Amino acid sequence: MSDTAQLIIGDKTYELPVITGTEDEKAIDISKLRDQSGYVTLDIGYKNTGATKSAITFLDGEKGILKYRGYSIEQLAEKSTFIEVAYLLIYGDLPTAEQLKDFQYQLSRHTLVQEDMKKFFDGFPQGSHPMGQLSSLVCAMSAFYPDSLKPNQTAQEVNLSIVKTLAKMSTLVSWIYKKSLGHPYIYPRNKYDYVTNFLYMTFGQRTEEIEIDPVIVDAMNKLLILHADHEQNCSASTVRIVGSSDSNLYASLSAGISALWGPLHGGANQAVIEMLEKIQQDGGDTDKWIAKAKDKNDPFRLMGFGHRVYKNFDPRARIIKKACDDILEKLGIDDEVLQIAKKLEEVALKDPYFVQRKLYPNVDFYSGIIYRALGFPTDMFTVLFALGRLPGWIAQWKEMKENKEPIGRPRQIYTGEVNREYVDIDKR
Ligand code: SDX
Repeated sequence: MSDTAQLIIGDKTYELPVITGTEDEKAIDISKLRDQSGYVTLDIGYKNTGATKSAITFLDGEKGILKYRGYSIEQLAEKSTFIEVAYLLIYGDLPTAEQLKDFQYQLSRHTLVQEDMKKFFDGFPQGSHPMGQLSSLVCAMSAFYPDSLKPNQTAQEVNLSIVKTLAKMSTLVSWIYKKSLGHPYIYPRNKYDYVTNFLYMTFGQRTEEIEIDPVIVDAMNKLLILHADHEQNCSASTVRIVGSSDSNLYASLSAGISALWGPLHGGANQAVIEMLEKIQQDGGDTDKWIAKAKDKNDPFRLMGFGHRVYKNFDPRARIIKKACDDILEKLGIDDEVLQIAKKLEEVALKDPYFVQRKLYPNVDFYSGIIYRALGFPTDMFTVLFALGRLPGWIAQWKEMKENKEPIGRPRQIYTGEVNREYVDIDKR
């Protein structure tokens, strides 16, 4: 098969190179198209446009396949831990026992945040959204760690920023939760592994030592692994384009957190639970709400359903759905919204509207039910998504820097007014 594509415009034919990825994906390289033809391409929302070449995550939306650095999400969710997956995504290989031990040790050296960062928490109004707090706090890290602003940092300096970000994020996320309760912050305990430490800081109290249930640690590891990366999604693309202007890691991640906040993206996990609770309060009539989701005159969408890329089951949704049953049973919780979610899924998967549009449950459809069972409030769900996605964002930012990619600057097609003369205000 030819490794070029021909584009015929008028009486000219342009030869464009065809790129083939290691999973046999094909792309037409248009990087010289405008120079050769004067034309740009237009693809609003980038549904058909590759922004980069990446070796981090592969997904096949038609087959419902997701792999991190070549390892299937099913294997990693079953056998790995979040910190091991973070190492895999960021450094490219599964760590040896020695490397993992050293990585965990490095993280444990940086879990404390500067005490002055607490002043930010004092400034946030009670009840302010955790995602707004997290985005502000992560960007503020560039003020507390100004070395991260140094241009042309060495690999060691970049790696220190990476370790600091991973380590401190779990502290910041747990303190955001404590702030929402008006409770005192709990400091990290370096005797714990990353996820146990996070749960300790989140659910611990200064008044007594608590035992962290290994069932909850296992569930949290699985959820964080499933959220760890997802190739060029909205927030990862945001991190890459902000980083491409040579913005520091913290500023790039803060932008990614803001992108994830949207209910069409990571904010969907909060929106799903709010939707399920609304259906529950409305008497649990799933048929009524499915009809609303299909009604073009009704702005209601079935949150947690549909995906820009997956036109089959989101493999993460399958894993989380099974984990839901396991965890709720182990914790002895019978959550009616889980039954409503299962009923919605059952009805939607048979309904032609959803079948024709290839709308399936995505990662956000069931995740909130587990977060709820673990004791998290709904407005913390997207912050937990951000905690999970952090190693993926870091890996994407690091790859973009290492590949010395140019500043991201898309073109456009102008459709506005042409050549207007200025009119003095008294003549308008
Ligand atoms: C995440 O990109 C990633 O990888 C993201 C993510 C990651 O890990 O980073 O996977 C995480 O963001 C998951 C998605 C979470 N969002 C939601 O659950 C919100 C609800 N879903 C949608 O709004 C929607 O499905 C999107 C935004 C996810 C995808 O939208 P697309 O691909 O742009 O599709 P579209 O909006 O053009 O919809 C196509 C059709 C439309 O109908 P028609 O115009 O053809 O008649 O499907 C309809 C839409 O109205 N549709 C839905 C629907 N989703 C799409 N109708 C009802 N309910 C829905 N949920």
